[in-house]
Formats: sequence, structure tokens, C-alpha cells
Amino acid sequence: MRLSLPRTCAPLLACAALGLLRTPLGAADIPRYRDASLPVEARIDDLIPRLTLEEKIGMVHANGLFRSGGVPRLGVPYLWMDDGPQGIRAETGLTSWAPTGQTDDYATALPPGCALSATWNPELAQACGTVIGEEACMRGKNVLLGPGMNIIRTPLCGRDYDYFGEDPWLAGRIAVGYVRGLQAEDSIACVKHFALNNQEKDRGTVSVEVDERALREIYLPAFEASVREAGALAIMGAYNKVRGAYCCQNGPLLNGILKGEWGFRGAVISDWGATHDSKEAVTQGLDLEMGSGPKFEEYRMAKAYLEGIQAGSYPAGQLDDKVRRNLRMLFASGAMDSRKPGSINTPAHREVARRIAEEAVVLLKNEGALLPIDPAKVKTLAVIGQNAVRTFAQGGNSAGVKAFHETTVLEGVAARALGSMNVIFSEGYRHPEVHRSSERDAAGVRRMEVTEVPTDVARELSDRAVVAAKDADLVILVAGLSHQPRGDDEGTDRVDLSLPGRQAELIARVVEANPRTVVVLVSGSPVVMDPWLAKVPAVLEAWYGGSEAGSALAQVLFGDVTPSGKLPVTFPRALAHTPAYQGGLRAYPGVDGVVHYEEGLLVGYRWYDTKNIEPLFPFGFGLSYTTFEYSKLKVTPDGPDSATVECDVTNKGARAGAEVVQLYVEDGHSRVQRPAKELKAFAKVALAPGETKTVKLALTPRSFAYYSAEAHSWRIDAGSFGILVGSSSRDIRLRGAYPIADAASAD
Ligand code: BGC
Repeated sequence: MRLSLPRTCAPLLACAALGLLRTPLGAADIPRYRDASLPVEARIDDLIPRLTLEEKIGMVHANGLFRSGGVPRLGVPYLWMDDGPQGIRAETGLTSWAPTGQTDDYATALPPGCALSATWNPELAQACGTVIGEEACMRGKNVLLGPGMNIIRTPLCGRDYDYFGEDPWLAGRIAVGYVRGLQAEDSIACVKHFALNNQEKDRGTVSVEVDERALREIYLPAFEASVREAGALAIMGAYNKVRGAYCCQNGPLLNGILKGEWGFRGAVISDWGATHDSKEAVTQGLDLEMGSGPKFEEYRMAKAYLEGIQAGSYPAGQLDDKVRRNLRMLFASGAMDSRKPGSINTPAHREVARRIAEEAVVLLKNEGALLPIDPAKVKTLAVIGQNAVRTFAQGGNSAGVKAFHETTVLEGVAARALGSMNVIFSEGYRHPEVHRSSERDAAGVRRMEVTEVPTDVARELSDRAVVAAKDADLVILVAGLSHQPRGDDEGTDRVDLSLPGRQAELIARVVEANPRTVVVLVSGSPVVMDPWLAKVPAVLEAWYGGSEAGSALAQVLFGDVTPSGKLPVTFPRALAHTPAYQGGLRAYPGVDGVVHYEEGLLVGYRWYDTKNIEPLFPFGFGLSYTTFEYSKLKVTPDGPDSATVECDVTNKGARAGAEVVQLYVEDGHSRVQRPAKELKAFAKVALAPGETKTVKLALTPRSFAYYSAEAHSWRIDAGSFGILVGSSSRDIRLRGAYPIADAASAD
């Protein structure tokens, strides 16, 4: 992204070549808006008065399913958008959702949000943004519709796979990395879905009731960091309502918090079809209306807005502000001058995809050090499960990517095992087949038909897998969700947390046939593991891994890479334990069109820890093939309410590995409710065998503060704060304290 652009006449030359200019211009005649040496705001100041009312209106609503604006007579190009967030989506028509079937719209599939956040590596998130930004340029897209950063409130939400977990600090760090990487490549990030789109069920109608502290402390910080720290130039309004008003026409959220308090200078773009009323949209903060239907003139910010202005219902300056915000995206993406050429599916891009997939793998259990696979002990390796041969990059709906290639688990494992062992495969189970229409309804959801697997087929698949397991020295059983409706998919939520179909039964049968069984979960959200977990010696969560999924997983299974992923979301023992479940239907999915976030601040581990509920696997958890020792905690004040926390971490094993050092703050003294502990800093540190490194973590005033709804500001209550440093939210290795003497504001 540029704010000051190099001087170039590229669009002029292009216009001249197309015969759009009657007489060639000399340098002195270049209008100011085309002069790349001038500041962007000065160029926009010059351009806006040259636009007709119709041209301005054309910039605030869609004129293609992923396109807006464009003023050919002035050499102002269209603004092209595309999904997002895990790669550049395949082309659709201008007015039809059906894929165009081109052969030049492939892209690298990056692992989705759940995997990116499981790396706990903001630098890798930045590299991910860089890849997507470069590919967006190559594909001619100015705005990338991502990243998604809604907080995981319930593990049932179909879109959790797309998001950065249950903790606002972790989500914010990953989001900031991604946005910075992307926007450095002449591409604009459209962070989404603002706000509180925490369920897919009824997403087009439901209204969220949330208390002010939960809003500020849990649901908004990742957006706030994307805007204030990373300078995201676009934000997508969500489908749902918040406190009775649709998010794309929600004055308190858009004009109040986003543009007012956070000083957002970019454009608010509606989710596709999420705008409901002209006047509300125009006045409550929307800048660009996008939609799912092809009748663009009928959009709420099209003809109706034009006529409203002509009738004097809206001030002209208000439209100019919207146009300015849209133009900022266009200018900052380099579209008025010359954009970076970009690149696609380069070796470097594939390397980033591979690293994310590798670093995301979370080792949940490894009894008797069954992993990594020891080739000396394995002659025959059985790979079982349909998820071992499925590809997932196209799954999940709008985030789907037409990947150049995607290695499946079976391909990855077979390639790695080549020459050292036999690999046999058995399907074991099969997900139902889903056929979907390409067109969408008003809430962006596609019609679908589901064909279930006949019972006799399912039984036979399972029987054959048991035979394969008996024949093998080691079994890799790849279970998980389908990345289709009701299994990690936009537009539908899951109905429970169990593995679909007869997978749990299959796992139990396979492990009975061969106790040397490793279960690999390929899913974007937690599943429960009853009753098989106790019997299975090794379990990994691999998420969806993008283009290099199978080869990355194989590297971890064979020990070429030591697992270093940590859970960005709690895995509960049962759905009944989850925070949103406790309030009954009022709390999820809502009653009479309203969902009440009754658990307030207690989302994710904040809930389990405060209520003393034992999770299956806690937030921040993940094993390694080595072990790490923590020592020498030191807390040094940097000011009255900020500090540097230091500790040493030593790799005690014989393998290189990486540890995510997590810092939680505990507040037992404030006048208001505080969760048992809250993540406020973390660092991922790579260590050779025997190596020790000192890790430094910064705590700022915000690390100790809560949001005071009465004072409308961040407050710190004086007292002693606990400093908890550990390997997961439930594995605290070092404890210290940090006293703050005076109450203070942390704004
Ligand atoms: C999704 C958005 C997406 C848009 C365009 C909507 O259904 O919620 O995240 O960017 O479609 O495909």
C-alpha cells in the first residue's frame, strides 16, 4: 500500500492508447489527481470536484458482483474486490456467481484462519499477507476480502475455521501481521465481519445483545488493532444486527466507534446483500454497498441514494466523504498509477503455505513417544480415512480457493515414506455428498442437496479399514470434518461437536485392531473425543492445511519438523460445557430473533478457568517432540503501569523445536469482574537441543485495563497483578507479581 506514490503516467498512456484522450497531454498539463508526486489527499481533493453526481454514486455501490466505481473518461479504474481470506478466489461472472471456468484463475491456497492462529506466529501471518497481496496484484484485485477475525464464541459456528480463535490478543496479533503484509503489496485488506458475526445460523436476521465490556474487551480488539496499528483501509459490515440495528447501517458501531473513536479513514463495505435500507445505510456509516444480486441500480445506495440527493434529503458532503474513502482504497492500491506486477504460486508462496501448515499442527497426545514415526519399526503403514484423500481448499464457501495443487495427507505420507516402508490405504468412512447452487440467497447462503452414505456402504468401509489396520505396523487414521455444510462451512452451524457419521466408532474399532494408531484430525474447529481418546496413544490437530497440507503434515509425522502449534481455541469435553450453551436458546442461537451473550466477558478459556470447568485440551495447549524448561522470571517496570517480563526457556531434549511462551495477567483486586486470567503477550522461540534463550515480553497499560462502560474509557484499578508465564493457559510454569500504585486511565 502506498500513501505517496511514484510519479508515473501509466494510466494516461493507457488511456491514450485506447483513444480515450483526444489530444496528448504534456507533463505540465497533467491534472493534479494524476500527479503521483502529490500526496494522495491532495489528488483526491482535485478529483472529487471533477466527478458528476452519477459518477460519485457509481463509486458507492456495486456494478459487478466484485466490482465498483470506475470513471473511464477521467482514467479512474474500477475497484476490484475478491475473497479472501486464504487465497484469491476463482473468477465469477460480473452478474453471475457461476465460476467462469477460466484456466488462469488458480491461486495458492494458504491455510485458513484457524491454522494461521494455531502457529502463534505473527511474522508468519505477515508472510501470509504478503503472499496473498502479491497474488491479488497478479490477479488484478485491489481489495482482498479478509482477513476474518470474529472471535470464536461457540465451537458450533460454521465459520470458526476462517477466524483467529477465541482470544482477542492472539487474534489481534495475527490480524495485524496479515494486514501489514497484505497492504505492503499494493493490496487493501477488508477486515471482516464487523461486528459480532459469531454464528452462521440466522446470520442474516439475528440481533446480538452484548454488554459493553464484552464488546470492547473481547469482540472489538482485533478490529481495533487492524485499523489503528495496521492501518487497514477497508472493513466489512456483518450480516447480523447489533442491538437492533443491522451492522452495515449501525451508527454507534460505524460512525461512533470505528470512524469516531478509532479514526478509521478507509471504507466500510457491506457484506454481500447485508444492506437493508437506503437512509440508514447512507446516514449510519456505510461507504460501499455490495450484494449478491445483479440488479445493481436497485441497490440501496444506487438510484435511491441519487434521487435522495437530488431531492435534497442528504448533504452532498456526505457523499463526497464516502467517495473519498473509496478513492483512498483505489489510490493506496496503486491503481491510479502503476501497481506492483505481483506474482502467483511462486516457490516462495508455496514455502509460506507449507510453513504455516507445519507450524499450525498441534500435537495433542503422544503416549509412549509413538510419534515421530520411526522407519526402523514400521514396514507397513496404513493410512485410513476419507479425509486423507479429500482436498479442502475449495471448501467453506466464499473462502474457497481454486488451488494450483493441494497435497492430500495420503500423497504427503506416501511421498515421505517412499523407499522406507509400504503404505496401504483404506477409506474407512465417507462424508455425505453435497451439491450446491452457485447462486446465493439474501444472506449469501447457497441452496444445497445432501446425499447420505447408505448404511451398508458405511459398514463395509469400516470393516475393510479394520482389516487394513491389522495388517499394518502403524496406523494413521485421518478423521475430522468435511468443510461442507454443518461441518465448518459458511452459512450453516454444526449441530453438535461429535465427529460426523460413524467416525468415533471406526476409531474405536481400528485402535482395538491395532493399538499403534495415530489419529489426525482435519477440521477447523474442536470436536469431542469420547469415548476413543483414552485408548488412542497419539492425536494431532492438523486443521485444513492449504496447498501443502499433506506434505507439511508428513514432515511433522516423520519428525523432519517438530510440532509447535498451540490451540487458539479451547477443546471442550462436551457441548454442554461451552459458555454460549449455558444460557439456553436465548444465548445460542437466539429466541425471537435476538441472541443474548449472557456469558459476557467469559468467552473461551476465560469461561473454563473462571468457572473451574476442566476442558479436554485447554487454550494455548500443544505438545512437542522435545520439552522446554522455564526459569528466571523477571518483571521490570517500564513506567507506572507498563512492564517488561523476561524469562529463560531451555530446550531440554535432543531435537530442535519451538515453544510459544505465553504471558497471562491475573487481576484479583479490581472493583469489577475480571476473568481468572487473560493472555496479554506471547512469543514463539526456536531452540536447538540444549539451547537457552531469554524471552522478553512487553506489557502496556492496556494489558492491565478493563473497559469502564460508565466512564467510556479503559481503566486500571491500583493493586497487585499476577504475572503468569507458561506453556498453555493451564500449564503455568512461572509466577510473579506487578504492583500498580495508582488507579489510571489506559486510553
Ligand atoms: C461472506 C463474505 C464474503 C462475501 C463475498 C459473504 O457471503 O460473508 O465473507 O466476502 O460473501 O463473497
